[in-house]
Amino acid sequence: MSTQKKPHIIVIGNEKGGTGKSTISMHIIVSLLQQGYGVGSIDVDARQGSLSRYIQNRDTFAKANPDKKIPLPKHVPVFKSGLDSVEQSYTQEQSDFSTALESLKDADVVVIDTPGTDSNLSRIAHSYADTLITPLNDSLVDFDVLGRVDGTNVRPSLYAEMVWEQKKHRAMRDGGSIDWIIIRNRLSSLNARNKAEVEKLVGQLAKRIGVRSVDGLGERVIFRELFLQGLTLMDLRELKITPTISHLAARQEVRSLMESIRLPLQQGLEKSA
Ligand SMILES: Nc1ncnc2c1ncn2[C@@H]1O[C@H](COP(=O)(O)OP(=O)(O)OP(=O)(O)O)[C@@H](O)[C@H]1O
Ligand SMILES: [Mg+2]
Repeated sequence: MSTQKKPHIIVIGNEKGGTGKSTISMHIIVSLLQQGYGVGSIDVDARQGSLSRYIQNRDTFAKANPDKKIPLPKHVPVFKSGLDSVEQSYTQEQSDFSTALESLKDADVVVIDTPGTDSNLSRIAHSYADTLITPLNDSLVDFDVLGRVDGTNVRPSLYAEMVWEQKKHRAMRDGGSIDWIIIRNRLSSLNARNKAEVEKLVGQLAKRIGVRSVDGLGERVIFRELFLQGLTLMDLRELKITPTISHLAARQEVRSLMESIRLPLQQGLEKSA
């Protein structure tokens, strides 16, 4: 189904590694597919390729279980250029990224997973975001790439500055803006003091740089367990797995993230449902 010409682009980014970007990308992709959206996906962290492998595993599972409804996105990995000249490699990466996006132009939504480091490809991807989702582990060390505590103030740090730059690129390219969402991930019921401190800092930063902070995802084993089969929490019903209370809570957290994205197409889909 394609109701608008240009897909809505969701980028999952944080230049800190291991914050849950690929896991969250996959859950967003499957949630959107189940809601009836035509979904494309791009992995600009193609060397590590976690999202690409997650999708490959899903394809293998779907083929081995033709009786089950396991929808897949149209997926395109984009690799870092191997050219020696920085200028030429940047030109090639821009061209490869544009080609990938063009190949997904019929999708309603394109979800882009990015690496946990600063890279040219990651910057390019950020500059195309309509929605940017930044998962953040509940740790002061992880918060540091987003904001630095300066006396009683929190000022934007490395990653926040990079996003600011890409917002300007986006505005210059097509006058569009980026809706930036921070979601805390792997929240644990332990370590309450750290949790409260990160929550307070995220709140302060949110006011300062115009980012929305939304309810987080808990630390749950199920997020790690489904990777090899390429499955997500959103597939449990189709698999006829009786969910535990922890599964239900986790699924609710993912649904709440999906609602917070406020896709422009959502209303249209609901009407046609
Ligand atoms: N809410 C969660 N509960 C438990 N484990 C989680 C959760 N979110 C992510 N993980 C696990 O944390 C690890 C890192 O997650 P993931 O690979 O999605 O992060 P990433 O940000 O994509 O990492 P990188 O920066 O290396 O690309 C994985 O083992 C994943 O299964
Ligand atoms: Mg990743």
